[in-house]
Amino acid sequence: MTLEPAMSLEGRVALMTAAGSGIGRASALAVASLGASVMVTDINADSARDVADRIVSAGGRARHMALDVAQEEQIAAAVAAAVSAFGRLDILHNNAAYQGADAIEGDIDVVSMTVDFWNRMMAVNLTSHMLGCKHAIPAMLENGGGSIINTASMYGLAAYQAMPCYGISKAGVAMLTKYVAASHGKRGIRCNAIAPAVILTEGVKRFLPQELVDMNESHAALPYLGKPEDVASMVAFLASDAARFISGQVIAIDGGTTAQLPTVTAARALAEKARTHGR
Ligand SMILES: NC(=O)c1ccc[n+]([C@@H]2O[C@H](COP(=O)([O-])OP(=O)(O)OC[C@H]3O[C@@H](n4cnc5c(N)ncnc54)[C@H](O)[C@@H]3O)[C@@H](O)[C@H]2O)c1
Repeated sequence: MTLEPAMSLEGRVALMTAAGSGIGRASALAVASLGASVMVTDINADSARDVADRIVSAGGRARHMALDVAQEEQIAAAVAAAVSAFGRLDILHNNAAYQGADAIEGDIDVVSMTVDFWNRMMAVNLTSHMLGCKHAIPAMLENGGGSIINTASMYGLAAYQAMPCYGISKAGVAMLTKYVAASHGKRGIRCNAIAPAVILTEGVKRFLPQELVDMNESHAALPYLGKPEDVASMVAFLASDAARFISGQVIAIDGGTTAQLPTVTAARALAEKARTHGR
């Protein structure tokens, strides 16, 4: 296998969710740049249209539609629209997360958690990913299989002091990924998840305080924060035949953050102090 043809997505059709901004937008642009025809969807139809327009202006093929992933009938309609527009479905990127005004304040601790908040966040973060798989898999099987990429998070790999609902939903996405890979792999479905650390997107700028962003940057093994394009390149790779033997994996895209012991930041400061005193 030579890498370039294996990475090509010519002739493939991708349904991208929450693709009007951030990681979803970068991923839609990435799969389009490799030749895929893309159904760009987002709860915000205008942003989905902008992304589809960018793809078409660059010589690619794209359509757009509004999709609120908390609504099962809209997910079913988006799968049908992708197949109707482009004749098949090969790639699904499940990517939405809950962004209501209470996304941070409602998710402080299990003791203060309301069932209403829990259900609303789980619907967008986790149930939507299951529903995407439910409706996309039969369409993918019409052509011998496909690749599903779910969006988990480093907060679903290890616990943080806040955001339990978010983290638990993302841990659920990771396990959903393994179940789908195990259940449908023999029929040609690959399913993987990406688990990013803090990535500078519109969503992060809106929801996370700058101190938290800075803390994540200083804790990473690499000297910089990740960009949406750093995640999108993995989405595009997983979508392609270059990843044909990769399934059921939850891939951290985190600048080495989760590879380290929690004490590493303090240890770095100590080492720096020793170096300074040594001089
Ligand atoms: N940015 C990060 O640091 C980071 C880290 C780990 C995981 N993630 C995950 O990546 C995904 C994308 O996050 P982002 O940072 O790119 O955010 P973003 O705010 O830049 O983009 C999110 C998009 O989702 C859309 N959206 C919101 N609710 C929706 C719904 N119900 N149905 C469909 N679309 C909806 C928004 O309109 C927006 O276009 C999320 O699942 C998030 O949890 C992000």
